[in-house]
Amino acid sequence: MTVDFGIYHHSTKEESESLRKVIRQLFINAFMKIGIHKYREIRVLDVGCGLGFLSYVVADYFPRARVLGIDTFEDSSLPGSSIEKAKENMCKLKIDNRVTFKSLSVLDITPDLGYFDLVVSNLVLHNLGEKRFEAYEKISKVMDNNSFFINGDLFMGEFEKMFQIDMSRINKTFQLQYYDKIKLSSSIAYYLTVLKLKV
Ligand SMILES: C[S@@+](CC[C@H](N)C(=O)[O-])C[C@H]1O[C@@H](n2cnc3c(N)ncnc32)[C@H](O)[C@@H]1O
Repeated sequence: MTVDFGIYHHSTKEESESLRKVIRQLFINAFMKIGIHKYREIRVLDVGCGLGFLSYVVADYFPRARVLGIDTFEDSSLPGSSIEKAKENMCKLKIDNRVTFKSLSVLDITPDLGYFDLVVSNLVLHNLGEKRFEAYEKISKVMDNNSFFINGDLFMGEFEKMFQIDMSRINKTFQLQYYDKIKLSSSIAYYLTVLKLKV
């Protein structure tokens, strides 16, 4: 059984796979910290799901979770990606009864998707440039006061400063619970943030 979660832009197959190992562990650490009971029947939204890597990580950790993955499936950040391949991966992993996909941009999220207990996203928002702030707003509309948004993403250049600027730009809507960081090179860092709506 070969499950292929794809090769990230500017990366090799081996680099993408080893990055996913590290990211998987960071997300699992975050799931343990937020304290949602492992066996709760939660609704999860995976924003920019690609070929379903993070949808799988969530569905594997929360065995009763139902996951909706959304993606445009046409971005160059994950070449060769398609909704059919994502579905095929979930069938191979035998979680296709709990993970579904929809072709939808994060910028077109509407409240009729309903509320999610958990929203996750990996390596997506930085692709949107300034529009990422619009994406944060759209995501906030499908969360309630108990929901969490766990976002893993890249920051470049003066990454700590860039990260702090982003956090201050979203702080009218979101409250940062905690963050974790891995430095990938001298000019790139991966940040995992755990956010809740500001009340
Ligand atoms: C680097 S890939 C990461 C895929 C997946 N999250 C993972 O961890 O393997 C970035 C993904 O973001 C998606 N994406 C880019 N812009 C998007 C948008 N406006 N709405 C939804 N997804 C988007 C791309 O299609 C791509 O699948």
